[in-house]
Amino acid sequence: MSIAVTGIKPTGSPHLGNYLGMIRPALELAHQYEALYFIADYHALTRLRDGRRVRDLTYELAATLLSLGLDPTRVALYRQSDVPEVCELSWILSCVTPKGLLNRAHAYKAAVENNRRQGHDPDVDVNMGLYNYPILMAADILYPGADVVPVGLDQRQHIEIADDVAGAFNAAYGPLLRAPRAVIDERVMTIHGLDGRKMSKSYDNVIPLLAAPALVRKAVMRIKTDSRPPGEPKDPDTNVIFGLFRHVAPEDAVQSMRARYAAGGLGKEGLADALERTFGAARERYEEIVADRDELDRLLAMGAEKVRERGNAILARVRAAVGVGRPRTVRPADGKRR
Ligand code: TRP
Repeated sequence: MSIAVTGIKPTGSPHLGNYLGMIRPALELAHQYEALYFIADYHALTRLRDGRRVRDLTYELAATLLSLGLDPTRVALYRQSDVPEVCELSWILSCVTPKGLLNRAHAYKAAVENNRRQGHDPDVDVNMGLYNYPILMAADILYPGADVVPVGLDQRQHIEIADDVAGAFNAAYGPLLRAPRAVIDERVMTIHGLDGRKMSKSYDNVIPLLAAPALVRKAVMRIKTDSRPPGEPKDPDTNVIFGLFRHVAPEDAVQSMRARYAAGGLGKEGLADALERTFGAARERYEEIVADRDELDRLLAMGAEKVRERGNAILARVRAAVGVGRPRTVRPADGKRR
């Protein structure tokens, strides 16, 4: 069975944009692939400086995925830092990766550009973790031998970089690493937030996913609508409320909402209700799951063991090829020594 790998970074509570852009497609893909999904806590360290918050958010995300239907007996759900071999591979990969490749990475370029606009030195507030982020991500993907990587649109360049990193390694040492393919859900290329821009924590325009219903409702009421008064016809296809509604409601409800919109009906209540119908049960499961950290640790450890089985077979060949570690006979697939 082919392998699907993806990671989610514990830098904030998950929101509707995360769910539609990445969590839902990843959960769907888990039916056809051997799925290895992880909480990317090492990646969070490029930004967060509060260890307790990183830990809390890690449990929060794991519980979110489980409450939304991830089956831990079929999907290996793990914590990135429970698999330290990924960091080892990351170093090895960094030694074959041309620096110029990372100079072009969007997040790094944006940080430099931001400094330039403000007249600062280009390196201000750029840590090496931010710079090396795409290599660690390549290691996440190449370590267990991913075939596909379900991600949101914003991660496309990172997958291309992982491809290039695998190519650089293979050019130097032979074809040991498999280049992955990004899987991007085209239904939800961009999810718009409360202000109409892309839904993102950094814009403070998100609808929280499993927060208390009153908080979700409050966020929905904050959605900026155009200034046309209620009752006047609106174009559903450019409307943020309808844009979100159609992703979380069943098809017949979407059709009748579309008609109401075109006739000028107001849709915030309808969206808030649809969110509650879609996520209410998950939120209740979530409260229970997130409260039991011992059980979460047990599940995450189980996932880590599963991914290590796959990954360490590849890493052993990589170590042998680059010449580090005590030499060991790498058994060929037929199990016979030669
Ligand atoms: N960079 C991804 C994001 O911010 C998270 C991530 C880390 C990831 N490692 C990964 C995604 C490996 C896919 C595969 O969303």
